[in-house]
Amino acid sequence: MKVVDDIASLRKLTTEWKFSGSTVGFVPTMGNLHNGHLKLVKRAKAHNSRVVVSIFVNPMQFGANEDLDAYPRTIEEDKAKLIEAGVDAVFLPSVSDMYPGGVEHQTVVEVPDISDILCGASRPGHFRGVATVVSKLFNMVHPHDAFFGEKDFQQLQVIRTMVRDLSMGVTIHGIPTERDVSGLALSSRNGYLTDEQRHTAATIYSEMTSLKARIEAGERNYVALAADLADILTDSGFKNDYVHIVNAQSLKPAKETDAHLVILVAAFLGNTRLIDNLQIHV
Ligand code: PAF
Repeated sequence: MKVVDDIASLRKLTTEWKFSGSTVGFVPTMGNLHNGHLKLVKRAKAHNSRVVVSIFVNPMQFGANEDLDAYPRTIEEDKAKLIEAGVDAVFLPSVSDMYPGGVEHQTVVEVPDISDILCGASRPGHFRGVATVVSKLFNMVHPHDAFFGEKDFQQLQVIRTMVRDLSMGVTIHGIPTERDVSGLALSSRNGYLTDEQRHTAATIYSEMTSLKARIEAGERNYVALAADLADILTDSGFKNDYVHIVNAQSLKPAKETDAHLVILVAAFLGNTRLIDNLQIHV
């Protein structure tokens, strides 16, 4: 596996690959890799002849009171996992390479509307940071395909919208969430949880699954259904940020006529903010 830490070398590498007829798959990450990331890599490898993974803890998508400094950095373990997974190149840009004029003076990519609701309302500027870094990474890697987890459902929709609106020549693939045996969605932030909190955290998935069954059985009062789930989570010890049932494309409140829905949950256990979701076709 090639380890590349400057933009010019990365461009040279991917240009040579493309010139020789390879397709390039790209998996952007912030490191601390788990099986969810490795599933994205596996899908990229199945779809493309060359795979690039980036590891960059992006300061622009963290709010002032968030966990940028504490965010787990496990670069040597990550590299070993990527070698084992058969990745062709890992890209490790520095903050000064990514933001040469400083984060505060960076030209930004803003995806309107969808960036301002749900996680965007709780974390102002978060999706501006995500859209900006992902568009920069696309400009550096020039992939044919890019792979994102469905766990960050809103992020995936923001990126799809950005790619559509800016006519970017990359195909976005959303990959189903990887879960542990308890149903807890894999996330780098799970490492912040105590054993007891980890046990409680699995309630999100089990209760979303029960709610999905009620919807599939014909219940349609989505506001009341979401309120039921919110109450159960509160009783289990969560501090809810939001619990909603929305249209899976627009992320606006679900209507009775919508055929593709998603339950979206963001909730704190102690200081750890967890997000999860479950799609429903009715
Ligand atoms: O999902 C993530 O890990 C990050 O938001 C991403 C897409 C790598 C951008 O920094």
